[in-house]
Amino acid sequence: MANINWMGWLLMVLLVGNDKTVPVSCIYVDEPLLYDTFPPNFVWASATSAHQIEGAWNVDGKGPSIWDTYTSQPGIVAEGATGQTACNSYYFYQKDVDALKSLNVSHYRFSISWPRVLPDGIGRINQPGVDYYKNLIAALKVANIQPMVTLYHWDLPQALEDMGGWLNSSVADWFEEYARLCFTQFGDDVKIWVTLNEPWITAWQGYGLGVSAPAKYGPGTYTYQAGHNLILAHAKVYRLYESSFKPFQQGKVGIALNINWYSPATDLTADADAAERALQFMGGWFANPIFGSGDYPSIMKQKIGEKSALQGFNQSRLPEFTQEQKIFVQGSADFLGINHYTSFLTEDKPSDINDISYEADQDLYAYYDPSWYGSGSPWLKITPFGLRNLLIWLRDRFNDPEMIITENGCSDTAGNLDDMLRIYYFKHYINNVLKAIKNDGVKVTGYTAWSLMDNFEWRAGYNEKFGLFNVNFTSPELPRTAKASASYYAQIIRDNGFRTDQPCNNYPIS
Ligand SMILES: *[C@@H]1O[C@H](CO)[C@@H](O)[C@H](O)[C@H]1NC(C)=O
Ligand SMILES: *[C@@H]1O[C@H](CO)[C@@H](O)[C@H](O)[C@H]1NC(C)=O
Ligand SMILES: *[C@@H]1O[C@H](CO)[C@@H](O)[C@H](O)[C@H]1NC(C)=O
Ligand SMILES: *[C@@H]1O[C@H](CO)[C@@H](O)[C@H](O)[C@H]1NC(C)=O
Repeated sequence: MANINWMGWLLMVLLVGNDKTVPVSCIYVDEPLLYDTFPPNFVWASATSAHQIEGAWNVDGKGPSIWDTYTSQPGIVAEGATGQTACNSYYFYQKDVDALKSLNVSHYRFSISWPRVLPDGIGRINQPGVDYYKNLIAALKVANIQPMVTLYHWDLPQALEDMGGWLNSSVADWFEEYARLCFTQFGDDVKIWVTLNEPWITAWQGYGLGVSAPAKYGPGTYTYQAGHNLILAHAKVYRLYESSFKPFQQGKVGIALNINWYSPATDLTADADAAERALQFMGGWFANPIFGSGDYPSIMKQKIGEKSALQGFNQSRLPEFTQEQKIFVQGSADFLGINHYTSFLTEDKPSDINDISYEADQDLYAYYDPSWYGSGSPWLKITPFGLRNLLIWLRDRFNDPEMIITENGCSDTAGNLDDMLRIYYFKHYINNVLKAIKNDGVKVTGYTAWSLMDNFEWRAGYNEKFGLFNVNFTSPELPRTAKASASYYAQIIRDNGFRTDQPCNNYPIS
């Protein structure tokens, strides 16, 4: 298959022809940058997740996760790839810490594998699993890097899925037990916690479309039931920390939501409404209960309620919070984590009423502008303006919350070390974060580059590479080698922002 980055290579060849003084690794058509610095003590991080890097899927007492089960079925993941070895970070974590150290990040965002510490999801503790994370945290401490820890990055213990997983309302109790163990074991050293990573993926792809573990299919029903239980489980863990750990551990707890930017396709009011609807269905679904009113966005309640009635359901397919639950959920986060990658154009478009799905409930059509640069992932088009717009939108809709960019990054398929496309991506997305802070007054306190290294990219296997570091997967030592983007990111961190006299920052301006 054609590598989409050839477009970038072609552009490079053309531009180098025009200006021989420009370092090859810097070339892409730029929008003007803001040359300024980030606030003091800004969190600079890079990230991974357990299933994508750890390997050691069945050793030292680890229980299977839903992703171990899912990827063991033939034909699910590209080329039959699995996370069984991945970057082997269970054994090679010191290589990860060394890579992080060379980036000079202040924080490392990683996730704990629930079935590694609780093989059955609840009950029996697996001490070697606990020790692994203690050792990782100790190695980070030596390198002067703070952990930012995600409790749930999609790898539910299979034992809990066998009891209904995120569709069983008991999951909030299971998640609380697991979180209590993590806060107890690691909380003295962890000051930033993320409860759930991208609950949207779990609800919509895992239990709605069935294209992600655990591959349950209920696009207009399970989607919302799983979403509801995810929100309540998040809130339960936040309240646990608030009452029992925060007073002496003094950390903060947030949630990481993946939210695209949606622009209206035209000047029509209907399209502007459609773009707002898309943002509410994707971001507001989780953010409005937690950071807004304590309840789902009114547009979701209205659309899903009306359609459910027309479709013959005796109640809305969107579950309702009780008054007590609204109070419990509202304000259950110290910061909003944002995983952001791409944007869409949006048109109003009524759906077929027989289509019972989260997608159809939105009555819109979203698509990519064909002029946007691509990446190594079909779903990821390069649209730096979208991040700034999203941050402003979130500030305005959800009471100006503290925000941390918990993921942002770009894939290619080559894994090449001279990764100009990724430099372009980071430069402009990070600069848009700076503009949002300096020009728009948005409260962003940290930025996390996804990902530290090439790794197991879920259903795409090892084909879509997001790393600042290349991993040679054919070598048993799985060496991590810095790409050009790693030096570029380290430079931004060193400068705490953008300087005109730094390589890659100042040309060419189109
Ligand atoms: C790492 O960053 C700190 C500021 O956060 C800076 O003082 C230091 O010089 C940097 N170290 C390197 C090796 O760039
Ligand atoms: C949900 O979990 C409870 C335990 O809390 C269990 O008794 C019940 O069987 C589970 N439901 C399903 C559908 O598996
Ligand atoms: C509504 O329908 C569900 C099944 O879709 C059923 O379990 C429930 O009992 C019904 N409720 C009422 C009030 O009829
Ligand atoms: C990756 O590792 C293999 C095995 O050690 C080696 O033969 C190969 O040259 C390496 N590839 C690169 C690009 O370094």
